[in-house]
Amino acid sequence: MRDGFLSYRGYRWLWICSLALLAFIAVYLWDNPVGGRNGGTIVGYTYGGIATAGILFLMYYGIRKRAYYSKATTLKGTLSAHVWIGVLLIFLVPLHSGFSFGWNVHTLAYALMLFTIFSGIWGVVMYTRLPMNLQSQRGGGTMTQLLEQVKAISEDINRMAGIEGASKDATPKSDVFLGMLQRLDFTFKPSIYRSLFKKSSQPIDRSRMAALLSELPKEEQDDGLKVIGLLNKKRELVSRIQDEASSLTWIRLWLYLHLPISFGLLFALAIHIFSVFYYW
Ligand code: HEM
Ligand code: HEM
Repeated sequence: MRDGFLSYRGYRWLWICSLALLAFIAVYLWDNPVGGRNGGTIVGYTYGGIATAGILFLMYYGIRKRAYYSKATTLKGTLSAHVWIGVLLIFLVPLHSGFSFGWNVHTLAYALMLFTIFSGIWGVVMYTRLPMNLQSQRGGGTMTQLLEQVKAISEDINRMAGIEGASKDATPKSDVFLGMLQRLDFTFKPSIYRSLFKKSSQPIDRSRMAALLSELPKEEQDDGLKVIGLLNKKRELVSRIQDEASSLTWIRLWLYLHLPISFGLLFALAIHIFSVFYYW
């Protein structure tokens, strides 16, 4: 995505859409129909048709997105087209209607189209801020691996503390050691609330680490150092999981906005087209 709609291919679509817009404006200005410019003139009908074709193409993108194996176009190429055609429509529809709007279903279609487009722009801004690996893999694979790593590290920590799975002849850890662990360790359960609102856990810094180690009995300091190392690794993994989960959640929330509004638009558009022909 990052090199998608503003890449070479992205700029190509920006050019195509800008030139198309200039041509649409030129024809609009050149046209001087009896009764003034509006959606019912030849140019009006033509622009309405083109705008409808544009909207249907953008809706088709939803299906295209899932057909990852299509050879004709690449996903990034299609997204650039999606973005710039969407932006072009903002201007094309007023040219279609002769800049006439009112409190009616026609203008409702335009308003819904603007909502869809602006939600789309918000989505693109959000996408470009996401971690790169999420953009390429959409979370899935890495997330399971990260969760498994957290589980393995937690087991290692418990083993070192003698809480579970430790060898029988290992000496039990002192209360100071266990107290330190209690303060620093945590159980991690991923949740939507957590991924949206909880802050990432910070690594234990060097001065705190030194202070904690100095409190431990001498014979436990080596193990203490290892445990703190593991705890730091666990914190790092948990913040990565949280970052990825939070991005994924925002993407889903965003899609639940962009997608329904685009269907609302399609519905209002169908009524608009039907009504202009019905009352003609
Ligand atoms: C095949 C496609 C389309 C056809 C045949 C069509 C037809 C028309 C016609 C005949 C008018 C004039 C109605 C009148 O003056 O009473 C009109 C106006 C209008 N159309 Fe379309 N249209 C199409 C697509 C679109 C699209 C895609 C949008 C926006 C999403 C749109 C938004 C409007 C608006 C806002 C008006 C002005 C309403 C007003 O003056 O209050 N149209 N259209
Ligand atoms: C009338 C205008 C638009 C319509 C009807 C429309 C419709 C859609 C549809 C149906 C999807 C697929 C959702 C899914 O099933 O996953 C989609 C995805 C998307 N749209 Fe739009 N869209 C419009 C305008 C825009 C604009 C202007 C932008 C950005 C500036 C945009 C950005 C996006 C993005 C980023 C995605 C998701 C891409 C992905 O997940 O790979 N859309 N849009």
